[in-house]
Amino acid sequence: MSIAVLLPAAGRGERLGSGVVKALREVGGEPLLLHAVRGVRAVPAVGPIVVLAPVGLVNDLAVLLASYDVVVTAGGEQRQDSVRQGLAVLPGAVDLVLVHDAARALAPVALFEAVIAALRAGAEAVVPVLPVADTVKRVADDRVVATVDRADLRAVQTPQGFVRSVLERAHALPGPPATDDAALVERLGRTVVTVPGSEEAFKVTRPFDLLVAQAVLAGRARGR
Ligand code: C5P
Repeated sequence: MSIAVLLPAAGRGERLGSGVVKALREVGGEPLLLHAVRGVRAVPAVGPIVVLAPVGLVNDLAVLLASYDVVVTAGGEQRQDSVRQGLAVLPGAVDLVLVHDAARALAPVALFEAVIAALRAGAEAVVPVLPVADTVKRVADDRVVATVDRADLRAVQTPQGFVRSVLERAHALPGPPATDDAALVERLGRTVVTVPGSEEAFKVTRPFDLLVAQAVLAGRARGR
């Protein structure tokens, strides 16, 4: 089976501050996107990699990633648009697609392999999940409306894996935007299965996450 990875990296990363696009924020002396691409390239089963770049930075990112055999193309207005642009440029032979946020730049190889194994075992859609540690409440206007039972809640990560035809059908459905690809597949009425996630696959969103990323890289460099 031919497996491709779509790497949406077209977000501006405004919650990180600084004005530099998130993909180019440096951790451990290198841009986040370089860590992300290196991580994906380290997965032996992965073939084509498509990076969705912020409009106006396609050439810069292509130069940055020149030695990693990736296709860099422009992303869209919303994350979902970026994924759709990536699907549009996939080679015909690809039958399984992993969608992986570039912002989860330190996701370990073993996590990709777990998602791929679930697809190979017959799943149409696979998401890595972690239990929710915090108590979660629904609020309106700063007032608590309800406390949600966290026992059956899961925080969902990427890479998310899909049979290509299912993901394409999901993205062709009309409907409001979704924050992940699995939500679109759920709208199709298809089953999404879970595999255990990884704390190292956290999404770099806020400045604190850069500190955590730095610590993870330092730990890896020490061979922990
Ligand atoms: O905004 P959010 O944190 O959900 O972004 C998740 C990933 O999607 C990031 O890697 C970001 O670069 C990417 N993204 C994108 N195109 C957009 C918005 C976000 O590729 N228009």
